[in-house]
Amino acid sequence: MAELRFSYEEALIPREDIFQTAEKLTPEIGNMVNATSKAYDDERASVNLHDDKGMLSEVRRVIEEKSRLNPEYLIVVGTGGSNLGTIAVQEAVLGRLYNQLDPPTKVLYADTIDSDYLSKMIEIVEPTLRRNSSILVNGISKSGTTTETIANFEIMVNLLRRYRKDYEDHVVLTSDRGSQLWNLAIKKGFDVLEIPQKVGGRYSVLSPVGLFPLGILGIDIKELLDGARTMRDLCIGEDIGGNPAAICAAIQHLHYQGGKTIFDLFLFANDLESVGKWHRQLMAESLGKEFNRKGERVNIGITPTVSIGSTDLHSMAQLYLGGPYDKFTTFVCVEESNSDVDVPRLGDYSDLVSGIQGKSLKTIMNAILEGTKRAYEEDKRPFVEATLPNKSEHSIGQFLQFKMIDTIYLGYLLDVNPFDQPGVESYKRETRKILAGQK
Ligand code: PA5
Repeated sequence: MAELRFSYEEALIPREDIFQTAEKLTPEIGNMVNATSKAYDDERASVNLHDDKGMLSEVRRVIEEKSRLNPEYLIVVGTGGSNLGTIAVQEAVLGRLYNQLDPPTKVLYADTIDSDYLSKMIEIVEPTLRRNSSILVNGISKSGTTTETIANFEIMVNLLRRYRKDYEDHVVLTSDRGSQLWNLAIKKGFDVLEIPQKVGGRYSVLSPVGLFPLGILGIDIKELLDGARTMRDLCIGEDIGGNPAAICAAIQHLHYQGGKTIFDLFLFANDLESVGKWHRQLMAESLGKEFNRKGERVNIGITPTVSIGSTDLHSMAQLYLGGPYDKFTTFVCVEESNSDVDVPRLGDYSDLVSGIQGKSLKTIMNAILEGTKRAYEEDKRPFVEATLPNKSEHSIGQFLQFKMIDTIYLGYLLDVNPFDQPGVESYKRETRKILAGQK
């Protein structure tokens, strides 16, 4: 199986400095190795999800049961860590135009609170319910108390109830064992899938949070997990030179210390845009912290951005290549496309842009990527590259795990806790107080 490649020739940092910083990760790599023998009894528990056979077989059981309903729509109700990973994998593997290709089960995501958006979603799925066909609602909330998720979930359950006597069969909840949502699921007889307590939201894509909806859509979740496992094994290796997450974290740390506070994930594949958004949350929530591990106020953080090649070359490239030297870039490219489209040889059009006729879009895109990298090199803009062999489950699993472990390592180097999110909790608390005080 072809594997993800990480290269850093253009990181613009001497190799000795990278290795010296990466060596500082040795204790954390040791912690990571220890965590692999502690199942879910460690804050790094997400690195063990692919070894949990019980979890996989329970998720598969519920997938099989619910697939028998032949749902025309899967509605994923969740936000942040509870849906970004699912959207990322779904779009990467099945493509962003998936729903328009008329698959047996289409997918819709309800995350924010927006009555116009939600009423259109209802307008889309109501005819299915009227015809007595199925929709499946997967409510996902680790805490079980996120305002947006609970509101959207209640609206969707209410819709189901209006059309189906057996509506309970069309609902699956995913939450922490013992949360209010979990308890409600038990009371109502909904199927419920457990998120291991120490697996945080943004690290939970390989738990039932992502596995159940992705499996319903026909994605090979075993391959996703296997890809992630391959990368985990590489990224907990004590030989620093062969550990891409350690090297990547070291480079990012050195650039951050050198004043580059904006990290751009520049993905040269349209279907990977949501992988970028998933990574944006991972980096922002894990590293943006008021206090360090010693409890000192540091107000530290890296601002993650997402760019799509070639779309954003026509939107952001002027800033990237002309603006301040405050950015560090990771180019992500995919070697093999799933399909080939060529520019036709149309005689009358041959003078419009020379050198494109008869060439595949892949060839043209490669030229654009090479041209972009050359421009970055000439302008001394540092970058590293992650090359995925393709957009298969295996490759995407590798990339997700690479980034999760690299973020944990970066948290260690920055001396912050990459697993908590006190800022997010504070907005949730304040919102609940306001709503509880209103009539
Ligand atoms: O990563 C996180 O912890 C957050 O972004 C959560 O995933 C998000 O706020 C949703 O929380 P919950 O799953 O508890 O509804």
